[in-house]
Amino acid sequence: MKVCKTVDEIRAYRWLDPRQSWGLVPTMGFLHEGHISLVRRARGENDYVAVSIFVNPAQFAPHEDLQAYPRNLQRDLSLLEQEEVDLVFVPDDSTMYPPRSQTFVIVSEVAQPLEGASRPTHFRGVTTVVAKLFNIIQPQRAYFGQKDAQQVVVVQRMIKDLDFNVELVVCPIVRESDGLAMSSRNERLLASQRLAAPVLFRALTAAESAFFAGQRQASDLRQIMIAEIEREPLARLDYVSVANPETLLELDVVEDKALLSGAIFIGDVRLIDNIPIEMGLI
Ligand code: PAJ
Repeated sequence: MKVCKTVDEIRAYRWLDPRQSWGLVPTMGFLHEGHISLVRRARGENDYVAVSIFVNPAQFAPHEDLQAYPRNLQRDLSLLEQEEVDLVFVPDDSTMYPPRSQTFVIVSEVAQPLEGASRPTHFRGVTTVVAKLFNIIQPQRAYFGQKDAQQVVVVQRMIKDLDFNVELVVCPIVRESDGLAMSSRNERLLASQRLAAPVLFRALTAAESAFFAGQRQASDLRQIMIAEIEREPLARLDYVSVANPETLLELDVVEDKALLSGAIFIGDVRLIDNIPIEMGLI
C-alpha cells in the first residue's frame, strides 16, 4: 500500500497503467465500519482503490469541532492495509490549500437547506475539496455514504454541472446494534451521552412507521420526530425534515417518496441521520 502526501506522487502512481480503473473513497479519517463498507465496495468494483484522509478545514466553521475532530492515522493506515487498498492520500493543509489559493466550488440551491441552513459554509468546503480530489486522483468511481444524504445530492449536482467524468456510488448507512449511525464523532460522546444518541434514529423510524401506516402530512411526521427527540433530556434538536429527495425542499404532503432527516446536539457533539422512504419499498 502506497502512502502519498503530495499531488505529484499521487499522479505518478495513478498513471503507471492508464488502462486500469480506479475507485476513490474520500474520508476525514478515524475510520469505522461505515468507511470500511465503502472501501470494500470500491475494492470489489475497481482494479485500484485510493482512499484520501484529510480533515478538511474549509468545511468546518470557526466555532465547530475542527480541533476536536478525532484523528488516528496509524490505526487508519493499518485498517486500510488489511482491506488491500492500493493508495492512500494524506495531504497536509498546505498541499490542499496552498498560500493565496482563492477558488471555491459552490453548488447553490441543493446546498442551502438542511445541513446548509445550519452550517452555511460547510458545503462549499466539501465541494471544493471533493473537486480537488477528483482532479488529483481522477477516479472512474467515487464512493459516498448515504449517511450524509445531502452531501450525496450536492456532489452529484457538482459532477453533472462541471462534467466530472466520475460515477458516484452511494453506499447504505452502517449502524451500531442500537441503531446509531456510525460516525467518527460518536467517539466524542461520554458513556451517558452514547446511551442517549440513538434517539435520532428512533425518531426517524417512528416517522417512517407512521408513513407506512398511512400518515402523509409532513408536518405530522415532523412532529412525531420532534416529540421523540424531546423525550431525551440529553438531546438538543437542531432540525428535523421531511423533504423532496431531489430538491431537498420541505414537503407539505408526502406523495410517494421523501427524505426523512435530522440533526441533534448531544453535549457539543452534532449528530445527523436520515431514512429515505418510498411507497412500495417496504
Ligand atoms: P467522513 O465523515 O469521514 O465520511 C467519509 C465517507 O464515509 C462519506 O461518504 C460518508 O457518508 C461515509 N460514511 C460515514 N459514516 C458512514 C456510515 N455510518 N455508513 C455509511 N457511510 C458512512 O464525509 C466526509 O468525511 C467529508 O465530507 C468528505 C467527503 C471526505 C470531504 O471532506
